[in-house]
Amino acid sequence: MLLKRVSSALSLVTVGAILLTACGTDAPTATAVPAAPATTAPTMAATAAPPVVATDPAVPTMTATTAPVMAATIAPTTAATSTTGTTGAMTGGKIAILLPETKTARYESQDLPLFKAKLTALGFDVEKNLIYSNANQDASAQQQQAEAALTNGAKVLVLDPVDSAAAGAIADAAKAKGVPVISYDRLIKGSDAVSYYISFDNEQVGKLQGQSLLDALKGKTNPTVVMINGSPTDNNATLFKKGAHSVLDGKVNIAKEYDTPDWSPDKAQGEMQQALTALGNKVDGVLAANDGTGGGAIAAMKAAGVTPLPPVTGQDAELAAIQRILVGEQYMTIYKAIKPEAEQAAQLAFTLLGGKTPDAGMVSSKVANGKIDVPSILLNPVAVTKATVASTVVKDGFWKASDICTSEYAKACTDAGVK
Ligand code: GAL
Repeated sequence: MLLKRVSSALSLVTVGAILLTACGTDAPTATAVPAAPATTAPTMAATAAPPVVATDPAVPTMTATTAPVMAATIAPTTAATSTTGTTGAMTGGKIAILLPETKTARYESQDLPLFKAKLTALGFDVEKNLIYSNANQDASAQQQQAEAALTNGAKVLVLDPVDSAAAGAIADAAKAKGVPVISYDRLIKGSDAVSYYISFDNEQVGKLQGQSLLDALKGKTNPTVVMINGSPTDNNATLFKKGAHSVLDGKVNIAKEYDTPDWSPDKAQGEMQQALTALGNKVDGVLAANDGTGGGAIAAMKAAGVTPLPPVTGQDAELAAIQRILVGEQYMTIYKAIKPEAEQAAQLAFTLLGGKTPDAGMVSSKVANGKIDVPSILLNPVAVTKATVASTVVKDGFWKASDICTSEYAKACTDAGVK
């Protein structure tokens, strides 16, 4: 049953992706755009973001197909108090965290280490009781990893789905075993078995990207824009795209638009090559949904000899993207403070493992997933341009100046006040 439901959802999406990838859309011609307010949004992370965490060597990245599930015996520990006086005493279960990708840096360099650090701080023994898998962009592998985690004693499932629709079946299977599911960063759709959802305001991400691009295109009439969206199976990509269109439509000429399978930077590079060929290299701006796809688009334009490079957007504030922004190769990125996201997910999982209910104050929103209104925590994204690198990602400690300002970027750092 679970396999049948996942494969039918998958085949539908794949067909859609192929269709979408192939067609160009011609938006109505644009009029000159009013300048948007400078996006020097204050840094938003509640707590100082962590130093950059290198990928945790102790945590093997799981290959898609035969992901062994790390399981171990339970070591009951009396953890530090979590919410509402919960002692956090273990109920003898394990927590499983299932992440979607290896092609995008954040999951193994930020989400996982931060999640583990918070659980450890709460007194949870991550070496013994944390089950971790990475689906390597493969939804059916994720389904297998979820089944294995449930079989191996997971009592709480934290799931960042490769395929938001297909993941509904995973949540249903967990519910059948009495295991609560936390939808992490991406919404699990079409299931009433989702206990909580934690993410950012993802439509706002798209709006900030669209507005930043309009700012960069100010003064250009009917600018030609190429849109490189994210994976068609990722509900976030749908929201980013919706937010960007809500700002750009009618103001620019979206000459080519793509949905990028697997959020793959290489596929994004190929899409941009196609667009450059079709448009004779005449591109005024690129709305790229994240730094990975933005980096692919920039590589394609460099290879095609496009100079100067037009403004390109991004997301995730990856180190390479911040460096590109400082030297003017990328125009902006979206900073999402992953620390509060990963830590609150860990807190939720730990509280649920203890058979408790999170503080009402913690879960302040509701998001409809097509079946129920899921109790949710939505965090704020922040737009970052050269002018705000210092006051956002550096101020929060997401990156240290020493990480960014390697010899190649030292002068650009000085010019941008990054120190
Ligand atoms: C999204 C996520 C982004 C982005 C992308 C690719 O769901 O919110 O931060 O990186 O996936 O993994």
